[in-house]
Amino acid sequence: MHALLLSGTPNPRQAEFFRAQARHTAYGGARGGGKSWAMRRKLVLLAFATPGLNALLLRRTLPELRENHVVPLLRELHGVADYNAAERVFRFPNGARLRLGYCDGANDVYQYQGQEYDVIGMEEATHFTEEQMRFLTTCNRTVKPNFRPRMYYTCNPGNVGHAWVKRLFIDRRFQNGERPEDYAFIPARVWDNKVLLAADPDYVRQLEALPEDLRRAHLEGDWDVHAGQYFREFSRAKHICEPFELPSWWRRFRSMDWGYNDPCCVLWHAVDGDGRVYTYRELYVRRMQASEVAREIRALTGEEHIAYTVASPDMWQRRGAVLKSEGGFEGESIAELFARAGVPLTPADNARVAGWQRVREYLAPADDGKPLWQAFPDCANLLRTLPLLMFDSHNREDAADGEDHAPEALRYGLMSRPHGSKREAAPARRRYDPFSVPKQRAGFLET
Ligand SMILES: Nc1ncnc2c1ncn2[C@@H]1O[C@H](COP(=O)(O)OP(=O)(O)OP(=O)(O)O)[C@@H](O)[C@H]1O
Ligand SMILES: [Mg+2]
Repeated sequence: MHALLLSGTPNPRQAEFFRAQARHTAYGGARGGGKSWAMRRKLVLLAFATPGLNALLLRRTLPELRENHVVPLLRELHGVADYNAAERVFRFPNGARLRLGYCDGANDVYQYQGQEYDVIGMEEATHFTEEQMRFLTTCNRTVKPNFRPRMYYTCNPGNVGHAWVKRLFIDRRFQNGERPEDYAFIPARVWDNKVLLAADPDYVRQLEALPEDLRRAHLEGDWDVHAGQYFREFSRAKHICEPFELPSWWRRFRSMDWGYNDPCCVLWHAVDGDGRVYTYRELYVRRMQASEVAREIRALTGEEHIAYTVASPDMWQRRGAVLKSEGGFEGESIAELFARAGVPLTPADNARVAGWQRVREYLAPADDGKPLWQAFPDCANLLRTLPLLMFDSHNREDAADGEDHAPEALRYGLMSRPHGSKREAAPARRRYDPFSVPKQRAGFLET
Protein backbone atom coordinates (compact mmCIF):
# COMPACT_ATOMS: atom_id res chain seq x y z
CA MET A 1 0.00 0.00 0.00
CA HIS A 2 1.12 3.56 -0.59
CA ALA A 3 3.10 5.06 2.28
CA LEU A 4 0.89 8.16 2.43
CA LEU A 5 -2.18 6.10 2.98
CA LEU A 6 -0.73 4.64 6.12
CA SER A 7 0.04 8.00 7.70
CA GLY A 8 -1.77 8.41 11.01
CA THR A 9 -2.80 5.71 13.45
CA PRO A 10 -6.44 5.37 14.49
CA ASN A 11 -7.25 6.24 18.08
CA PRO A 12 -9.15 3.55 20.04
CA ARG A 13 -12.61 4.92 19.10
CA GLN A 14 -11.64 5.18 15.46
CA ALA A 15 -10.35 1.60 15.59
CA GLU A 16 -13.71 0.54 17.01
CA PHE A 17 -15.41 2.33 14.12
CA PHE A 18 -13.16 0.48 11.64
CA ARG A 19 -14.09 -2.88 13.19
CA ALA A 20 -17.85 -2.23 13.39
CA GLN A 21 -19.91 -4.96 11.76
CA ALA A 22 -23.45 -3.56 11.93
CA ARG A 23 -25.50 -2.64 8.90
CA HIS A 24 -25.66 0.95 10.26
CA THR A 25 -22.78 2.30 12.31
CA ALA A 26 -22.79 5.82 13.73
CA TYR A 27 -19.77 7.54 15.21
CA GLY A 28 -20.82 10.68 16.95
CA GLY A 29 -21.16 13.05 19.80
CA ALA A 30 -18.54 15.65 20.58
CA ARG A 31 -16.62 17.79 18.13
CA GLY A 32 -13.10 17.11 17.00
CA GLY A 33 -12.84 13.45 18.02
CA GLY A 34 -11.64 12.45 14.57
CA LYS A 35 -14.92 11.34 13.00
CA SER A 36 -14.34 12.75 9.53
CA TRP A 37 -10.82 11.35 9.48
CA ALA A 38 -12.15 7.92 10.42
CA MET A 39 -14.93 8.05 7.81
CA ARG A 40 -12.48 8.91 5.02
CA ARG A 41 -9.98 6.33 6.11
CA LYS A 42 -12.58 3.59 6.50
CA LEU A 43 -13.91 4.11 2.97
CA VAL A 44 -10.40 4.18 1.50
CA LEU A 45 -9.45 0.98 3.35
CA LEU A 46 -12.63 -0.69 2.12
CA ALA A 47 -11.89 0.45 -1.44
CA PHE A 48 -8.43 -1.14 -1.28
CA ALA A 49 -9.78 -4.33 0.25
CA THR A 50 -12.73 -4.78 -2.13
CA PRO A 51 -12.10 -4.92 -5.89
CA GLY A 52 -14.89 -3.18 -7.77
CA LEU A 53 -16.34 -1.59 -4.60
CA ASN A 54 -18.82 1.18 -5.29
CA ALA A 55 -18.87 3.63 -2.39
CA LEU A 56 -20.55 6.98 -1.85
CA LEU A 57 -19.45 9.61 0.65
CA LEU A 58 -21.96 12.39 1.30
CA ARG A 59 -22.02 15.71 3.01
CA ARG A 60 -24.91 18.11 3.00
CA THR A 61 -23.30 20.92 0.97
CA LEU A 62 -20.62 21.16 -1.69
CA PRO A 63 -18.32 23.63 0.15
CA GLU A 64 -18.33 21.34 3.21
CA LEU A 65 -17.65 18.35 1.02
CA ARG A 66 -14.76 20.07 -0.69
CA GLU A 67 -13.09 21.31 2.47
CA ASN A 68 -13.68 18.27 4.59
CA HIS A 69 -13.08 15.49 2.11
CA VAL A 70 -12.13 16.35 -1.46
CA VAL A 71 -9.06 18.34 -0.45
CA PRO A 72 -7.75 15.84 2.17
CA LEU A 73 -8.45 12.86 -0.10
CA LEU A 74 -6.60 14.45 -3.00
CA ARG A 75 -3.66 14.81 -0.68
CA GLU A 76 -3.91 11.33 0.82
CA LEU A 77 -4.58 9.49 -2.43
CA HIS A 78 -2.14 11.39 -4.63
CA GLY A 79 -0.48 8.89 -6.97
CA VAL A 80 -2.68 6.11 -5.59
CA ALA A 81 -6.16 6.69 -7.01
CA ASP A 82 -7.18 8.81 -10.00
CA TYR A 83 -9.61 11.61 -9.39
CA ASN A 84 -12.17 12.69 -11.94
CA ALA A 85 -13.19 16.17 -10.82
CA ALA A 86 -16.25 16.41 -13.10
CA GLU A 87 -17.76 13.22 -11.71
CA ARG A 88 -16.17 13.71 -8.28
CA VAL A 89 -15.02 10.10 -8.31
CA PHE A 90 -11.78 8.49 -7.12
CA ARG A 91 -10.92 5.34 -9.08
CA PHE A 92 -8.64 2.81 -7.41
CA PRO A 93 -6.30 0.40 -9.26
CA ASN A 94 -8.54 -2.57 -8.31
CA GLY A 95 -11.58 -1.02 -9.97
CA ALA A 96 -13.08 0.32 -6.72
CA ARG A 97 -14.81 3.69 -6.97
CA LEU A 98 -15.40 6.29 -4.28
CA ARG A 99 -17.91 8.92 -5.30
CA LEU A 100 -18.20 12.14 -3.31
CA GLY A 101 -21.61 13.76 -3.28
CA TYR A 102 -23.76 16.29 -1.52
CA CYS A 103 -27.49 16.88 -1.01
CA ASP A 104 -27.99 20.60 -0.75
CA GLY A 105 -31.70 20.89 -1.47
CA ALA A 106 -34.35 18.66 0.09
CA ASN A 107 -34.82 16.80 -3.19
CA ASP A 108 -31.14 16.43 -4.15
CA VAL A 109 -31.05 12.90 -2.78
CA TYR A 110 -33.20 11.77 -5.69
CA GLN A 111 -30.24 12.21 -8.04
CA TYR A 112 -29.06 8.90 -6.55
CA GLN A 113 -32.29 7.16 -7.50
CA GLY A 114 -31.71 3.85 -9.24
CA GLN A 115 -28.06 3.79 -8.24
CA GLU A 116 -26.48 1.08 -6.18
CA TYR A 117 -23.77 1.63 -3.61
CA ASP A 118 -22.17 -1.16 -1.61
CA VAL A 119 -21.24 1.34 1.09
CA ILE A 120 -22.61 4.78 1.88
CA GLY A 121 -20.98 7.21 4.30
CA MET A 122 -23.10 10.10 5.57
CA GLU A 123 -21.00 12.80 7.14
CA GLU A 124 -22.76 15.03 9.65
CA ALA A 125 -25.78 12.76 9.43
CA THR A 126 -27.83 15.09 11.66
CA HIS A 127 -27.80 17.60 8.78
CA PHE A 128 -29.91 15.17 6.75
CA THR A 129 -33.63 14.68 7.23
CA GLU A 130 -35.02 11.27 8.10
CA GLU A 131 -36.63 11.13 4.68
CA GLN A 132 -33.28 11.71 2.96
CA MET A 133 -31.67 9.02 5.12
CA ARG A 134 -34.44 6.56 4.32
CA PHE A 135 -34.14 7.23 0.63
CA LEU A 136 -30.36 6.79 0.69
CA THR A 137 -30.79 3.50 2.51
CA THR A 138 -32.70 2.24 -0.54
CA CYS A 139 -29.57 2.91 -2.67
CA ASN A 140 -27.39 0.90 -0.28
CA ARG A 141 -27.39 -2.61 -1.73
CA THR A 142 -24.94 -4.89 -3.40
CA VAL A 143 -24.72 -7.66 -5.94
CA LYS A 144 -21.27 -8.67 -4.72
CA PRO A 145 -21.18 -12.13 -3.20
CA ASN A 146 -19.85 -12.16 0.37
CA PHE A 147 -20.15 -8.41 0.79
CA ARG A 148 -22.62 -6.97 3.30
CA PRO A 149 -23.95 -3.57 2.24
CA ARG A 150 -23.58 -1.05 5.03
CA MET A 151 -23.94 2.58 5.97
CA TYR A 152 -21.63 4.67 8.12
CA TYR A 153 -22.70 7.88 9.79
CA THR A 154 -20.79 10.58 11.61
CA CYS A 155 -22.67 13.20 13.55
CA ASN A 156 -22.86 15.85 16.25
CA PRO A 157 -26.04 16.51 18.25
CA GLY A 158 -28.40 19.18 16.88
CA ASN A 159 -29.83 20.10 13.51
CA VAL A 160 -32.69 18.71 11.41
CA GLY A 161 -31.64 15.09 11.75
CA HIS A 162 -31.15 15.15 15.52
CA ALA A 163 -34.35 13.26 16.27
CA TRP A 164 -33.86 10.28 13.98
CA VAL A 165 -30.19 9.83 14.87
CA LYS A 166 -31.06 9.99 18.56
CA ARG A 167 -33.98 7.60 18.18
CA LEU A 168 -32.01 4.95 16.30
CA PHE A 169 -28.57 5.16 17.83
CA ILE A 170 -28.96 6.67 21.31
CA ASP A 171 -32.45 5.85 22.55
CA ARG A 172 -32.66 2.70 20.39
CA ARG A 173 -36.42 3.08 19.99
CA PHE A 174 -36.96 0.87 16.98
CA GLN A 175 -40.08 0.72 14.87
CA ASN A 176 -41.48 -0.81 11.69
CA GLY A 177 -39.14 -3.72 11.17
CA GLU A 178 -35.93 -1.94 12.27
CA ARG A 179 -33.71 -4.59 13.89
CA PRO A 180 -31.70 -3.61 16.98
CA GLU A 181 -28.67 -5.64 15.87
CA ASP A 182 -28.42 -3.51 12.72
CA TYR A 183 -27.56 -0.34 14.64
CA ALA A 184 -24.29 0.38 16.42
CA PHE A 185 -23.13 3.62 18.01
CA ILE A 186 -19.61 4.67 18.91
CA PRO A 187 -19.39 7.79 21.09
CA ALA A 188 -16.84 10.40 20.05
CA ARG A 189 -14.86 12.53 22.52
CA VAL A 190 -12.43 15.28 21.69
CA TRP A 191 -10.05 13.79 24.30
CA ASP A 192 -9.71 10.70 22.07
CA ASN A 193 -7.99 12.80 19.43
CA LYS A 194 -4.46 13.15 20.76
CA VAL A 195 -3.23 14.53 17.43
CA LEU A 196 -5.61 17.47 17.65
CA LEU A 197 -5.00 18.06 21.37
CA ALA A 198 -1.26 18.22 20.73
CA ALA A 199 -1.49 20.42 17.66
CA ASP A 200 -4.16 22.80 19.02
CA PRO A 201 -4.32 22.82 22.82
CA ASP A 202 -6.71 25.78 22.64
CA TYR A 203 -9.39 23.79 20.90
CA VAL A 204 -10.85 22.28 24.06
CA ARG A 205 -10.84 25.69 25.74
CA GLN A 206 -12.86 27.05 22.83
CA LEU A 207 -15.41 24.27 23.25
CA GLU A 208 -15.56 24.96 26.98
CA ALA A 209 -16.28 28.63 26.30
CA LEU A 210 -19.41 27.89 24.26
CA PRO A 211 -22.88 28.79 25.60
CA GLU A 212 -24.12 26.00 27.85
CA ASP A 213 -26.34 24.05 25.47
CA LEU A 214 -23.79 24.15 22.68
CA ARG A 215 -21.04 23.17 25.07
CA ARG A 216 -23.02 20.20 26.28
CA ALA A 217 -23.68 19.14 22.70
CA HIS A 218 -20.27 19.81 21.21
CA LEU A 219 -17.89 19.12 24.08
CA GLU A 220 -19.75 16.44 25.98
CA GLY A 221 -21.69 14.98 23.06
CA ASP A 222 -24.95 15.27 25.00
CA TRP A 223 -27.92 14.24 22.84
CA ASP A 224 -30.57 15.62 25.18
CA VAL A 225 -30.00 19.15 24.02
CA HIS A 226 -31.18 20.08 20.60
CA ALA A 227 -29.22 23.11 19.50
CA GLY A 228 -31.19 25.46 17.31
CA GLN A 229 -34.64 23.93 17.88
CA TYR A 230 -37.33 26.46 16.89
CA PHE A 231 -40.14 25.29 19.17
CA ARG A 232 -38.39 24.33 22.38
CA GLU A 233 -41.71 24.62 24.17
CA PHE A 234 -43.17 21.70 22.23
CA SER A 235 -43.71 18.71 24.48
CA ARG A 236 -45.38 15.45 23.54
CA ALA A 237 -46.78 15.24 27.06
CA LYS A 238 -48.48 18.65 26.83
CA HIS A 239 -49.39 18.95 23.18
CA ILE A 240 -50.77 15.53 22.39
CA CYS A 241 -54.20 14.74 23.81
CA GLU A 242 -56.17 11.54 24.07
CA PRO A 243 -58.54 11.43 21.11
CA PHE A 244 -62.13 12.21 22.11
CA GLU A 245 -65.48 12.63 20.40
CA LEU A 246 -65.59 16.21 19.09
CA PRO A 247 -68.92 17.89 19.91
CA SER A 248 -70.79 18.54 16.71
CA TRP A 249 -71.27 22.23 17.48
CA TRP A 250 -67.53 22.95 17.58
CA ARG A 251 -66.40 24.91 14.57
CA ARG A 252 -64.22 22.87 12.24
CA PHE A 253 -61.84 24.08 9.58
CA ARG A 254 -58.95 22.78 7.52
CA SER A 255 -55.55 24.09 6.49
CA MET A 256 -53.29 22.90 3.72
CA ASP A 257 -49.70 23.29 2.61
CA TRP A 258 -49.78 22.27 -1.01
CA GLY A 259 -46.94 20.27 -2.55
CA TYR A 260 -46.52 17.78 -5.32
CA ASN A 261 -42.83 16.81 -5.25
CA ASP A 262 -42.65 17.96 -1.66
CA PRO A 263 -45.24 16.44 0.64
CA CYS A 264 -48.71 17.94 0.68
CA CYS A 265 -50.14 18.31 4.17
CA VAL A 266 -53.77 18.89 5.08
CA LEU A 267 -54.84 19.33 8.70
CA TRP A 268 -58.33 19.25 10.19
CA HIS A 269 -58.95 21.42 13.25
CA ALA A 270 -61.80 21.90 15.71
CA VAL A 271 -62.28 24.86 18.06
CA ASP A 272 -63.94 24.57 21.46
CA GLY A 273 -65.94 27.22 23.27
CA ASP A 274 -62.81 28.74 24.82
CA GLY A 275 -61.03 29.11 21.50
CA ARG A 276 -58.80 26.08 22.06
CA VAL A 277 -57.79 24.43 18.82
CA TYR A 278 -57.53 20.66 18.44
CA THR A 279 -55.88 19.32 15.30
CA TYR A 280 -57.63 16.01 14.94
CA ARG A 281 -56.64 14.62 11.56
CA GLU A 282 -53.87 14.94 9.00
CA LEU A 283 -53.38 13.91 5.41
CA TYR A 284 -49.72 13.73 4.38
CA VAL A 285 -49.07 12.63 0.84
CA ARG A 286 -46.40 13.00 -1.78
CA ARG A 287 -46.73 13.09 -5.56
CA MET A 288 -50.49 13.01 -5.47
CA GLN A 289 -52.29 15.05 -8.10
CA ALA A 290 -54.50 17.93 -6.99
CA SER A 291 -57.75 16.26 -8.03
CA GLU A 292 -56.84 13.12 -6.09
CA VAL A 293 -55.87 15.13 -3.00
CA ALA A 294 -59.24 16.88 -3.20
CA ARG A 295 -61.00 13.52 -3.47
CA GLU A 296 -59.06 12.21 -0.48
CA ILE A 297 -59.92 15.32 1.57
CA ARG A 298 -63.61 14.87 0.84
CA ALA A 299 -63.51 11.18 1.68
CA LEU A 300 -61.78 11.80 5.01
CA THR A 301 -64.11 14.67 5.86
CA GLY A 302 -67.25 12.63 5.25
CA GLU A 303 -70.34 14.35 6.67
CA GLU A 304 -68.40 16.78 8.89
CA HIS A 305 -69.25 20.44 8.37
CA ILE A 306 -66.10 22.38 7.52
CA ALA A 307 -66.38 26.17 7.87
CA TYR A 308 -63.44 26.96 5.58
CA THR A 309 -60.09 25.69 4.29
CA VAL A 310 -57.06 27.96 4.22
CA ALA A 311 -54.27 26.97 1.86
CA SER A 312 -50.86 28.05 0.49
CA PRO A 313 -51.31 31.33 -1.39
CA ASP A 314 -49.12 30.06 -4.23
CA MET A 315 -51.96 27.73 -5.22
CA TRP A 316 -53.58 30.73 -6.88
CA GLN A 317 -50.70 31.21 -9.29
CA ARG A 318 -51.62 29.95 -12.71
CA ARG A 319 -49.87 26.76 -13.66
CA GLY A 320 -51.77 25.78 -16.80
CA ALA A 321 -49.26 23.39 -18.30
CA VAL A 322 -48.86 21.36 -15.14
CA LEU A 323 -52.56 21.27 -14.58
CA LYS A 324 -53.43 20.17 -18.08
CA SER A 325 -51.67 16.90 -17.40
CA GLU A 326 -53.82 16.63 -14.28
CA GLY A 327 -57.02 17.05 -16.21
CA GLY A 328 -57.25 20.80 -15.55
CA PHE A 329 -57.91 23.60 -18.02
CA GLU A 330 -55.28 25.82 -19.58
CA GLY A 331 -54.64 28.71 -17.22
CA GLU A 332 -56.59 27.21 -14.33
CA SER A 333 -54.92 27.54 -10.95
CA ILE A 334 -54.52 24.65 -8.54
CA ALA A 335 -56.90 26.46 -6.20
CA GLU A 336 -59.54 26.54 -8.94
CA LEU A 337 -58.99 22.88 -9.61
CA PHE A 338 -59.61 22.12 -5.94
CA ALA A 339 -62.76 24.23 -5.99
CA ARG A 340 -64.02 22.34 -9.03
CA ALA A 341 -63.29 19.08 -7.19
CA GLY A 342 -65.51 20.17 -4.30
CA VAL A 343 -62.88 21.65 -1.95
CA PRO A 344 -63.14 25.45 -2.11
CA LEU A 345 -60.09 27.17 -0.65
CA THR A 346 -59.21 30.52 0.92
CA PRO A 347 -55.64 31.87 0.58
CA ALA A 348 -53.83 31.60 3.90
CA ASP A 349 -52.05 34.50 5.57
CA ASN A 350 -48.44 33.66 4.76
CA ALA A 351 -46.72 36.18 7.06
CA ARG A 352 -44.05 33.76 8.25
CA VAL A 353 -42.64 35.35 11.36
CA ALA A 354 -46.04 36.48 12.62
CA GLY A 355 -47.39 33.02 11.80
CA TRP A 356 -44.72 31.18 13.78
CA GLN A 357 -45.31 33.61 16.62
CA ARG A 358 -49.00 32.67 16.49
CA VAL A 359 -48.04 28.98 16.72
CA ARG A 360 -45.88 29.81 19.73
CA GLU A 361 -48.80 31.58 21.43
CA TYR A 362 -50.96 28.50 20.95
CA LEU A 363 -48.23 26.20 22.30
CA ALA A 364 -47.89 28.30 25.46
CA PRO A 365 -49.93 27.32 28.54
CA ALA A 366 -53.13 29.31 29.06
CA ASP A 367 -54.32 30.48 32.48
CA ASP A 368 -55.48 26.98 33.39
CA GLY A 369 -52.03 25.59 32.55
CA LYS A 370 -53.20 23.74 29.45
CA PRO A 371 -51.92 24.89 26.04
CA LEU A 372 -54.33 26.49 23.56
CA TRP A 373 -53.45 23.94 20.91
CA GLN A 374 -53.27 20.16 21.05
CA ALA A 375 -53.18 17.44 18.44
CA PHE A 376 -54.57 13.93 18.30
CA PRO A 377 -51.79 11.30 18.24
CA ASP A 378 -52.75 10.26 14.70
CA CYS A 379 -51.28 13.49 13.33
CA ALA A 380 -47.98 11.66 13.20
CA ASN A 381 -46.15 13.76 10.62
CA LEU A 382 -47.10 17.02 12.27
CA LEU A 383 -45.99 15.73 15.66
CA ARG A 384 -42.77 14.36 14.21
CA THR A 385 -41.74 17.45 12.26
CA LEU A 386 -42.90 20.30 14.53
CA PRO A 387 -40.16 19.65 17.13
CA LEU A 388 -37.59 19.31 14.33
CA LEU A 389 -38.00 22.83 12.99
CA MET A 390 -34.77 24.77 13.32
CA PHE A 391 -34.00 28.46 13.57
CA ASP A 392 -33.05 30.00 10.24
CA SER A 393 -29.40 31.00 10.47
CA HIS A 394 -30.01 34.05 8.21
CA ASN A 395 -33.19 35.35 9.79
CA ARG A 396 -33.18 34.68 13.51
CA GLU A 397 -36.93 35.24 13.83
CA ASP A 398 -37.82 32.69 11.19
CA ALA A 399 -37.67 28.91 10.96
CA ALA A 400 -35.30 27.29 8.48
CA ASP A 401 -36.48 25.29 5.50
CA GLY A 402 -36.61 21.60 6.21
CA GLU A 403 -39.42 19.10 6.34
CA ASP A 404 -41.78 21.87 7.32
CA HIS A 405 -44.96 21.06 5.39
CA ALA A 406 -47.03 20.01 8.37
CA PRO A 407 -45.83 22.92 10.56
CA GLU A 408 -46.62 25.28 7.68
CA ALA A 409 -50.13 23.87 7.43
CA LEU A 410 -50.51 24.39 11.19
CA ARG A 411 -49.22 27.95 10.85
CA TYR A 412 -51.77 28.70 8.11
CA GLY A 413 -54.50 27.20 10.24
CA LEU A 414 -53.68 29.16 13.39
CA MET A 415 -53.22 32.38 11.41
CA SER A 416 -56.87 32.09 10.43
CA ARG A 417 -57.77 32.21 14.14
CA PRO A 418 -57.64 35.12 16.58
CA HIS A 419 -54.51 35.81 18.59
CA GLY A 420 -53.69 32.98 20.94
CA SER A 421 -54.11 35.10 24.01
CA LYS A 422 -55.30 38.52 25.01
CA ARG A 423 -52.17 39.08 27.04
CA GLU A 424 -48.96 40.06 25.35
CA ALA A 425 -47.40 36.90 23.91
CA ALA A 426 -44.39 35.81 25.88
CA PRO A 427 -41.20 36.17 23.87
CA ALA A 428 -39.65 32.95 22.64
CA ARG A 429 -37.73 31.45 25.52
CA ARG A 430 -34.27 30.46 24.46
CA ARG A 431 -31.48 29.70 26.83
CA TYR A 432 -28.86 30.05 24.14
CA ASP A 433 -28.45 31.20 20.60
CA PRO A 434 -26.51 28.68 18.55
CA PHE A 435 -25.88 31.13 15.75
CA SER A 436 -24.62 33.94 17.90
CA VAL A 437 -21.24 32.28 18.46
CA PRO A 438 -18.73 35.00 17.57
CA LYS A 439 -17.44 34.51 14.09
CA GLN A 440 -13.82 33.85 14.96
CA ARG A 441 -15.03 31.17 17.35
CA ALA A 442 -17.67 29.82 14.97
CA GLY A 443 -15.04 29.15 12.32
CA PHE A 444 -13.87 25.97 13.93
CA LEU A 445 -17.43 24.72 14.19
CA GLU A 446 -17.80 24.64 10.45
CA THR A 447 -15.82 21.52 9.73
N1 LIG B 1 -5.93 9.16 13.77
C1 LIG B 1 -5.56 10.35 13.32
N2 LIG B 1 -4.32 10.59 12.90
C2 LIG B 1 -3.95 11.81 12.47
N3 LIG B 1 -4.75 12.89 12.45
C3 LIG B 1 -6.01 12.72 12.86
C4 LIG B 1 -6.49 11.45 13.32
N4 LIG B 1 -7.77 11.59 13.67
C5 LIG B 1 -8.09 12.87 13.44
N5 LIG B 1 -7.05 13.57 12.97
C6 LIG B 1 -7.00 14.98 12.66
O1 LIG B 1 -7.65 15.70 13.72
C7 LIG B 1 -8.39 16.80 13.23
C8 LIG B 1 -9.84 16.67 13.66
O2 LIG B 1 -10.37 15.45 13.16
P1 LIG B 1 -11.74 15.35 12.35
O3 LIG B 1 -11.93 16.51 11.46
O4 LIG B 1 -11.82 14.00 11.80
O5 LIG B 1 -12.71 15.49 13.60
P2 LIG B 1 -14.30 15.45 13.63
O6 LIG B 1 -14.70 14.57 14.75
O7 LIG B 1 -14.81 15.14 12.29
O8 LIG B 1 -14.64 16.93 14.02
P3 LIG B 1 -16.01 17.71 13.82
O9 LIG B 1 -16.92 17.26 14.91
O10 LIG B 1 -15.62 19.13 13.99
O11 LIG B 1 -16.53 17.38 12.45
C9 LIG B 1 -8.25 16.77 11.72
O12 LIG B 1 -7.23 17.66 11.36
C10 LIG B 1 -7.84 15.33 11.43
O13 LIG B 1 -7.08 15.21 10.24
MG1 LIG C 1 -16.05 16.20 10.93
